[in-house]
Amino acid sequence: MLILGIESSCDDTAAAVLQDEKVLANVAASQDAIHSRFGGVVPELASRNHLRNITGVVHQALACSATKIEEIDLIAVTQGPGLIGSLLVGFSFAKSLATVTNTAFVGVDHMAGHILSVLLNGHAVDFPFLSLVVSGGTTALYLAESKTRFHCLGRTRDDAAGEAFDKTAKLLGLPYPGGPHISKLAATGDSSHTRFPRSWLEEGSLDFSFSGLKTAVLQHVQKAAVKGEGLDKAGICASFEQAVVDVLVQKTIKAARLTKVGEVVVCGGVSANPRLRKQLEAACLARDLHFHAPDFEFCTDNGAMIALAGAASYEAFGETAIDSDVYSRPKL
Ligand code: KG4
Repeated sequence: MLILGIESSCDDTAAAVLQDEKVLANVAASQDAIHSRFGGVVPELASRNHLRNITGVVHQALACSATKIEEIDLIAVTQGPGLIGSLLVGFSFAKSLATVTNTAFVGVDHMAGHILSVLLNGHAVDFPFLSLVVSGGTTALYLAESKTRFHCLGRTRDDAAGEAFDKTAKLLGLPYPGGPHISKLAATGDSSHTRFPRSWLEEGSLDFSFSGLKTAVLQHVQKAAVKGEGLDKAGICASFEQAVVDVLVQKTIKAARLTKVGEVVVCGGVSANPRLRKQLEAACLARDLHFHAPDFEFCTDNGAMIALAGAASYEAFGETAIDSDVYSRPKL
């Protein structure tokens, strides 16, 4: 089956063509340069730029995979959660394309896409598996029972881990998106520079909270300014990153123990972070758990993961109604 996957839930306009689980083309137009001067995504600008980019991105995905639109069997598109204006661009585009080409159409949950991204290009992970989804929009732990059955074990009560990276980067005067800049600086810093707080929440909870950590960095920066001290940005980045990673790793291991799974996956934009990958992998190895992460190109938002999740949803539940709407809040 040839699947066209379209993703526009936040600021990346992405499209991919898959032949079953094999990625034939994976194309994305980044809007980082547009949003960087604001230190975060400006929703209206994101929607407008999706409008500019979407036709070209879809054309490019088809061209790179040497596929004609008439050959596509299924059009899959992100339905939610995400920014409504951004979602509407991709969703309306996909609906129109499906209608005029008489192609099957399916709306996909963005979280399902991230969870299944690890399976792209035939990477095998046995179900059930535990998935830590860490991105700019969410941080959550899921038990994936099959390609269409996901059980949320815990999620962030405030900021997502990626959001904490981006906001901390902004505080330190680093460009948007901040995650890659923080991890680059952190690699040269001392993680024991400052002991930032770890938010464990109540006993046994698998939820997350990162807003206090972000505030702790703000207070640290403000105190240094009052005292007229310079900032050891590398040390702050390494200490901040270690505080995030400690919580993510410990809660994931706790969830693996509770659910008794043998397979642990980390995915989403923040899963590109080397300290997180390394420490989670080491923690899994020490407990005989198999560790998996998607290829780097499938960590951040992409059309390939939407195509893959769309194919699974179509196989299990059939088409999505053509008059269906997008949604902003997580459903899974
Ligand atoms: O999954 P994604 O592309 O978008 C959402 O669905 O939100 O993730 C983007 C997030 C941003 O917050 C970005 O700063 C973060 O992923 N990120 C990283 C790294 N690379 C991207 N965070 C930490 N370390 C990285 N190396």
